[in-house]
Amino acid sequence: MMQGETAVVVTEDAVAQAAICLQQVSKAYRRNREHIQVLDNLDLQVNKGEMISIMGPSGAGKSTLLDVISGVTTADGGQVLLAGHDFALLSEAQRTQVRGRHIGFIFQFYCLIPVLNAWQNIELPLGLWKMSKADRQIRVNAALDMVAMKHRQQHLPSELSGGEQQRIAIARAVVSNPDIVLCDEPTGDLNREMGKTIMTLLRQLCVEYGKTVVVVTHDHDVALYADRHYRLENGRLLEENAAEVKARV
Ligand SMILES: Nc1ncnc2c1ncn2[C@@H]1O[C@H](COP(=O)(O)OP(=O)(O)OP(=O)(O)O)[C@@H](O)[C@H]1O
Ligand SMILES: [Mg+2]
Repeated sequence: MMQGETAVVVTEDAVAQAAICLQQVSKAYRRNREHIQVLDNLDLQVNKGEMISIMGPSGAGKSTLLDVISGVTTADGGQVLLAGHDFALLSEAQRTQVRGRHIGFIFQFYCLIPVLNAWQNIELPLGLWKMSKADRQIRVNAALDMVAMKHRQQHLPSELSGGEQQRIAIARAVVSNPDIVLCDEPTGDLNREMGKTIMTLLRQLCVEYGKTVVVVTHDHDVALYADRHYRLENGRLLEENAAEVKARV
């Protein structure tokens, strides 16, 4: 074992408790004759209400890992359990349903719809749910409150700062009340101060609302907001302590 590596022991009970459980997961991309082994017998367990960070070099497979966790991408081998659902046993439609119920996504470039205002962007995921207009309004207003953005609800994305756009994206990610939030470089396009605001909000999602949060980042200051820290390298995850994370440049 390498320094900082921790063996992952998964018991039946622990599996039932876990929000995310990956066992011996592999994923390769094949392009022409090239075979790129991105995930190689990777294990990961994230408990409910926990926040973890994942760092690693560009091209290591961090975004691919998030796609496998959410079922957007199918693993070649191994088991992916999300909130107790085994993706291998589900149809594409069922996977989409599980994803819609359990997962919220946050990306580096916010991915807001430019022609919709902040309120309408947050409301968007609720279109998948049967819900009265009144319930919809309650949900959107609560999400706006959570990110302290009510005063900008009529603004188009182009009329918001980067940090404000990310706060709207966070509200959109949680409006349908998912229990797991996956973030791919959530502060990548923001200055330090705005980055801190966003990480404080993500931390709050975990501590106050009990959500499970996975944060992929290049920034070790960002990673340190998490309870546990991983590094993705050579297709596997190594757990690192805070001192090891800080020591990385
Ligand atoms: N659809 C695809 N077809 C072929 N190769 C791909 C595909 N998607 C990703 N890859 C390759 O798989 C590897 C992992 O990509 P991934 O996007 O997961 O990396 P990453 O760790 O998120 O990188 P970054 O930090 O730059 O975002 C890269 O080498 C990439 O070129
Ligand atoms: Mg990536």
